[in-house]
Amino acid sequence: MASSLSLLLLFAASGIFLAIAGSTAGATLGLDFHHRFSDRVRRWAEAHGGLPGGWWPEKGSVEYYAALARHDRTLRGRVLAGGSDPNEELYFADGNATFRISSLGFLHYATVALGSPNVTFLVALDTGSDLFWLPCDCRSCAPTSSPDYGNIKFDIYSPSQSSTSKKVPCNSSFCELKSSCSAANSSCPYVVKYVSDNTSSSGVLVEDILYFKTEETIPKVVKAPIVLGCGQVQTGAFLNSAAPNGLFGLGMDKVSVPNVLASKGYASNSFSMCFSSDGLGRIYFGDTGSSDQEETPFDVNHSHPTYNISFIGMEVGNSSIDVNSSAIVDSGTSFTYLADPMYAKLSESFHAQVQEKRHESDADIPFEYCYDLSANQNSVLLPTINLTTKGGSQFPINDPIILINSEQSSFYCLGIVKSSNLNIIGQNFMTGLRVVFDRERLVLGWKEADCYEAEDSSTLPVNRNQSSIAPAPAFGPNGYNPEATKQRGNTTQVTVLRPSSSHSSHLNSMKSVLLISIVLSLAI
Ligand SMILES: *[C@@H]1O[C@H](CO)[C@@H](O)[C@H](O)[C@H]1NC(C)=O
Ligand SMILES: *[C@@H]1O[C@H](CO)[C@@H](O)[C@H](O)[C@H]1NC(C)=O
Ligand SMILES: *[C@@H]1O[C@H](CO)[C@@H](O)[C@H](O)[C@H]1NC(C)=O
Ligand SMILES: *[C@@H]1O[C@H](CO)[C@@H](O)[C@H](O)[C@H]1NC(C)=O
Ligand SMILES: *[C@@H]1O[C@H](CO)[C@@H](O)[C@H](O)[C@H]1NC(C)=O
Ligand SMILES: *[C@@H]1O[C@H](CO)[C@@H](O)[C@H](O)[C@H]1NC(C)=O
Ligand SMILES: *[C@@H]1O[C@H](CO)[C@@H](O)[C@H](O)[C@H]1NC(C)=O
Ligand SMILES: *[C@@H]1O[C@H](CO)[C@@H](O)[C@H](O)[C@H]1NC(C)=O
Ligand SMILES: *[C@@H]1O[C@H](CO)[C@@H](O)[C@H](O)[C@H]1NC(C)=O
Ligand SMILES: *[C@@H]1O[C@H](CO)[C@@H](O)[C@H](O)[C@H]1NC(C)=O
Ligand SMILES: *[C@@H]1O[C@H](CO)[C@@H](O)[C@H](O)[C@H]1NC(C)=O
Ligand SMILES: *[C@@H]1O[C@H](CO)[C@@H](O)[C@H](O)[C@H]1NC(C)=O
Repeated sequence: MASSLSLLLLFAASGIFLAIAGSTAGATLGLDFHHRFSDRVRRWAEAHGGLPGGWWPEKGSVEYYAALARHDRTLRGRVLAGGSDPNEELYFADGNATFRISSLGFLHYATVALGSPNVTFLVALDTGSDLFWLPCDCRSCAPTSSPDYGNIKFDIYSPSQSSTSKKVPCNSSFCELKSSCSAANSSCPYVVKYVSDNTSSSGVLVEDILYFKTEETIPKVVKAPIVLGCGQVQTGAFLNSAAPNGLFGLGMDKVSVPNVLASKGYASNSFSMCFSSDGLGRIYFGDTGSSDQEETPFDVNHSHPTYNISFIGMEVGNSSIDVNSSAIVDSGTSFTYLADPMYAKLSESFHAQVQEKRHESDADIPFEYCYDLSANQNSVLLPTINLTTKGGSQFPINDPIILINSEQSSFYCLGIVKSSNLNIIGQNFMTGLRVVFDRERLVLGWKEADCYEAEDSSTLPVNRNQSSIAPAPAFGPNGYNPEATKQRGNTTQVTVLRPSSSHSSHLNSMKSVLLISIVLSLAI
């Protein structure tokens, strides 16, 4: 494991967000939960110290929960009615929703239940690494509670407290650090180092039961024995800014949970993730996608397999650009990283077609191409960006920009960080797509999706005009991530909505949403 490429690349300068967000930063996770998550997550949060009713308004999000429920019924109805899908899809028993949390590295998280009796954990979903680990029998772990988590108190895993835990001995085929073992029957140690500065997890491998549910009318609980890391020592970002309650590696290697599920026959060797621009998402194991999705093959290096895809071109607004590049598709990287020449070609072409004035350069902002919004501006026209993958399929970038509101000004930036060598398609470039990691066929699939909807149902327009997406601080007291609303030729019109006062942002944006009747989303 130590030899694999373990991506998890957070915003190194996450301090800038805190600086911009100022005093509101502390409560961000609470706010996230507050507005967006399913009953299940709410109950979980309450059970972990969140105050019922305190920061959890029931009002205003009824439609949203109703929409989620409709989606769920439709999906289940499809399985029930069709009966043609032999492969059941699975989701985490504790819920099928994922949610992006800005104060924890801008990554997508899900809650998972493990062990007997089961304990739940809020884990970051990372397609850039393989191992699932939890803070466990801690010698150096993130704090279990912090102002950054709101009122939530996280659990720590302890194999000795779980009757279903088993040790993974050094002679197990999962054990890669055999050389550090004193005897074949001692527990297998692991160390995973991540690309983020000084960030690692180490401990011993254990086996325990991870709970899933089947996507059926009456979901069955699936108890899958999986291998995970009992993370006794974490360093770097894991101690404060990301994955404080564990990391769920979804990478290509054999220790990764999707592989274990497939090899034991619980699900097809594929999974999907859908990240909607409001920060809510879905994850399904066993999902092989649909026949009408776009696809491109993975370039698999068998000595360290990753979700590596190739690009042969880019369409940026009215220009067509040739490239020969590859990139790793990594949900564990907050923003997309590109190296030259792809970086220069894309950003310069974007720059040439943007209408706003360039924002003066700011060393605190990791994005190079930023543009000022005028005081009352609520929409911008952006060049549409498509990446042409090997095979010719277009990978559309639905959410190319990041909106930043500081005390002084509002501006948006092209959401790409310049990298020195590696290209990474981060989670911001997966927005609005159901992305299928088909490990069996070794292809990446994607399809435009409202993550609230059933895959092939156009009869389920989720009306988010009501409030489903309540404002919360993102990069500033009032940061919103705009959503593409209209495509006109080679440009996309994006409507940006900004409340006029930080204290009444909720009401103002609600009003404005109704006034201009668009779906507004925000970056959490
Ligand atoms: C999603 O989760 C909810 C509650 O956890 C469950 O009732 C529902 O069936 C799930 N949806 C699907 C499509 O599996
Ligand atoms: C987890 O444990 C609780 C009781 O503590 C139980 O109600 C729940 O059904 C369990 N979850 C699963 C997936 O078994
Ligand atoms: C590991 O060693 C034990 C005896 O210590 C043996 O029973 C077991 O089969 C071995 N497992 C593997 C995978 O070699
Ligand atoms: C490991 O195996 C050795 C002999 O092969 C035995 O003496 C020892 O007790 C075993 N240790 C554990 C923890 O099972
Ligand atoms: C890396 O992490 C270790 C352990 O947390 C710490 O002792 C060390 O100072 C860190 N190094 C840097 C450069 O942050
Ligand atoms: C495959 O990975 C190995 C180990 O990192 C590396 O040395 C090799 O150059 C890679 N091969 C290709 C074709 O990228
Ligand atoms: C991705 O695949 C390309 C083409 O095979 C290869 O050149 C590149 O080294 C790979 N990248 C990684 C990080 O494995
Ligand atoms: C869009 O760009 C393409 C070149 O990429 C050009 O051929 C086409 O005419 C443009 N369409 C519009 C409506 O500008
Ligand atoms: C990309 O590679 C193809 C064939 O390998 C070549 O024809 C094309 O000129 C290359 N494009 C660039 C921009 O390097
Ligand atoms: C492409 O778009 C830019 C800005 O939108 C415009 O200045 C330029 O003339 C366009 N080029 C072509 C070939 O249409
Ligand atoms: C981008 O790709 C989509 C298909 O995914 C296509 O409809 C659209 O015209 C493409 N836009 C450009 C500018 O190439
Ligand atoms: C909001 O949704 C309701 C239906 O839920 C609809 O009647 C109303 O027209 C919508 N408002 C706007 C501004 O789209």
